[in-house]
Amino acid sequence: MEVRKAVLPVAGWGTRFLPATKAMPKEMFPIIDKPVIQFIVEECLSAGIENIVFVTGRHKRPIEHHFDINTDLEKHLEQCGKIELLKNIREISRLINPIYIRQKEQLGLGHAVLVSEPVVGKEPFVVCLGDVIIKDEENVLKKMIEIYSRFGKSVIAVFEVEPRDVSKYGIISGKLIEDNIYIVDDLIEKPKPEEAPSRLAIVGRYLFTPKIFEKLKVTPPGKGGEVQLTDAMKLLLEEEAIYAIKIDSSVYDTGTPIGYIQTVLEFALQREELKDELVKFMKNLIIEPSEV
Ligand code: UTP
Repeated sequence: MEVRKAVLPVAGWGTRFLPATKAMPKEMFPIIDKPVIQFIVEECLSAGIENIVFVTGRHKRPIEHHFDINTDLEKHLEQCGKIELLKNIREISRLINPIYIRQKEQLGLGHAVLVSEPVVGKEPFVVCLGDVIIKDEENVLKKMIEIYSRFGKSVIAVFEVEPRDVSKYGIISGKLIEDNIYIVDDLIEKPKPEEAPSRLAIVGRYLFTPKIFEKLKVTPPGKGGEVQLTDAMKLLLEEEAIYAIKIDSSVYDTGTPIGYIQTVLEFALQREELKDELVKFMKNLIIEPSEV
């Protein structure tokens, strides 16, 4: 069955960015001039998925406005002759079919995915975390869809992290079955480095069979009273295989202040018009102790 829908959970509080996230979703934070969530929507589009299911909350209206058509702004840009900008803001609104569904209470990522069930139905679907940008020459979702079409089972993307970082992620243990493809044996949420079965961390891209909904419904709340997606995946593993694809892509977690700053800096350094001035500024800012 074809993968036609992507679920983007964007309803979280974003407490790590308060007070900035009191009224502004962290998924709308700009990476220079493009909000984080637009990178993720573009990734879905380039994998051939245009039905984007946003699981939102009451303070997330700017996301809806962003993907809507803004005729006043379009007219203004047209009148000013700013054709490049016009093309830029027009394209994304017209390419996607956005579907918004409310998570009425922030009961965790697993719960947010479950909220999308009436829209997704009995189809395979992808889930992309709303604050993780992935940059790769080859689209990761596309690779995951290829694996799904071969095995007909759920697929998650993983990447190798430093041993000291395993405690920040869900870690898999698995058997390598072919180049970069694993069959998952177990999933451990944020293990201590000495207890981690591998350094393969779940990266925020999932492709699920609809069976995950059954499992989410019976997943008891875990840490912080939240329904954890990893717990539901463990239940799914008891019944169905889960495959993992190891990616070598650059992964940007914009959901933490340091991750966000690093992302902005790295993307700015890749922009010709910003690079030189930024490097000069940073060099002046960071004065070696010996030079003070
Ligand atoms: P995070 O745990 O990074 O987001 O969830 P958060 O809860 O908003 O952030 P903090 O921990 O308070 O700083 C990853 C993604 O899942 C969504 C978030 O919006 C984010 O994009 N999410 C999380 C939901 O949609 N609903 C939830 O109940 C929790």
